[in-house]
Parts: sequence; structure tokens; C-alpha cells
Amino acid sequence: MRRDLVGSKGANHVLDCNLVCVQFELAGSGVDDCIHGVFPTSFLETSSDLTGSWLPFQPAPAHRACAGIKQENKRLTVQFAELLDSFLSHLISRRDPLVQRFLGGLSGAMRSRLLPTRRLPCERHLAPALAYADGPTLPLLRQFVQDGPALNWGQTYSATDLGRDFLDNYGWVELFGTRGHFENDLVAGGFLVLGPNTLYPDHHHLAEELYVPLTGGTEWHKGDAEFKEQAAGALIHHASDVNHAMRTADAPLVAIYLWRGGPLAAKSTLS
Ligand SMILES: [Fe+2]
Repeated sequence: MRRDLVGSKGANHVLDCNLVCVQFELAGSGVDDCIHGVFPTSFLETSSDLTGSWLPFQPAPAHRACAGIKQENKRLTVQFAELLDSFLSHLISRRDPLVQRFLGGLSGAMRSRLLPTRRLPCERHLAPALAYADGPTLPLLRQFVQDGPALNWGQTYSATDLGRDFLDNYGWVELFGTRGHFENDLVAGGFLVLGPNTLYPDHHHLAEELYVPLTGGTEWHKGDAEFKEQAAGALIHHASDVNHAMRTADAPLVAIYLWRGGPLAAKSTLS
């Protein structure tokens, strides 16, 4: 992977990168108190919304002594930057108007948020999920499986809501949003995991939602429609407050999601 490190003092530029990482030093603080921003260079290339001071990328001579600079800046590495890059790059590659509408809220850098690792039982379904993915969704799933054990996993529901068995087979990671690994107040994005033979029953929420399953074999339902199996890579849109549900069979579900247009940390209402 290529990565650029661009200090607010214009100190370092490292070419050969897919990501732009930005360091801002707080007044009077040291490196450990820096704020880091990151977005993929692929996003810079495709977005026309990026303006002003959030455009830190400045091409530098191609043959800088990168190794020494990288070593010097080892402490500035943004955690999960590659996962964010894979996530956004996959969505951008779809070149779909609906996807672009969701991504419109990402017109700027997202500062990293240091979160503790929090693990859940549903992580056991990550590695087996690789057998149910191929094609364009596989690289992102691989990156998620690799980073999974270090991420901050969450659950919206309690055992009172849906039972202990559901909780042992369900979890999500918010990659960016109001509480995720990167800060964003307009759009939330992350991963949902459901174990095999699990029903995520009808629920709804004010935010509109876009899912892209990274694995096939899951049946999806919304509104009055019947359950229908969706392949890996499908775009599944849920309008605001529309009931929807998913049920898995032999294959676990790993899907990426985007939320916009409503409270990004709201608990869904079970129907
Ligand atoms: Fe939903």
C-alpha cells in the first residue's frame, strides 16, 4: 500500500500511496496529541466536492527516501486506514448514483477516533465467510477478516430484545460515523455480521440505509415483498422507516452498510 504523510508544517511527503493521511498538531502539544485525518486517494480522484484546507495532498518528488520517513513517522500510522480505503474504494468503484448519494456526505477527511478493541462471539463467522465471497467483494472481506479481532464491535439489541442465541450470532462494526473508528456526523458506514441460520427480524429506522452483502446466500425482505436471496455485491436500499429483515441459511452474512438522513446511532425499532 502507498501512503502519504503530510504534516501541517509541511514536513513529510511519502508517495506511492492509496491513502492521504493528515497530521494536525494541536497548539502546544506533541506528536502523541495529534489529530489524524484520512481519506483514500481514489476518493480525491472522483469527488468534486473536496475543497479548501481539507485538500492536503501535494505531489512530491517521486524518489524521496521513503523508508526513512516511514520509520520516522511510524507513530503516525492511522489504525484501520487500509480497511477504510478498501471500504470506500469498493463503493466508489460501483459508480452507482445511489451509492454516490450516500457518499456525498463524506466530502472531507475523517479523523481517526481511538477506540478500544471490543470482541464478540459472532467473529467466529468471519473466516468461514470467505468461502461465500468471490469477485469484487472478496478483497474488502479479506481486509475485514484480517482486522476483525482488533476492531470495536457492537450490538444494538439485548438478549431481552431478541434472545441469547441471536446475540451470539450478531454484531456490527461502525467504521465511520458518530461513534466509529473514523469521525463522521453525516454518514455512518460499517459491517454487519450474522451467523448461519439466523433471522434478523423486521425492523425499521429513520435513517435510510444501503447494504452491500459481501457474502451470498442470504435472503432479504423489505416492505410487503417476499424474502429473496441476494448475491454478494448486490445493492440493497431501505428507505426511511421501511420495515426490512434478513435471514441466513448455511452461509453467514457479512455485509457493509451505510446510514444517512437520520440519527446515526439510533436503535432500530423492532416491528
Ligand atoms: Fe436497517
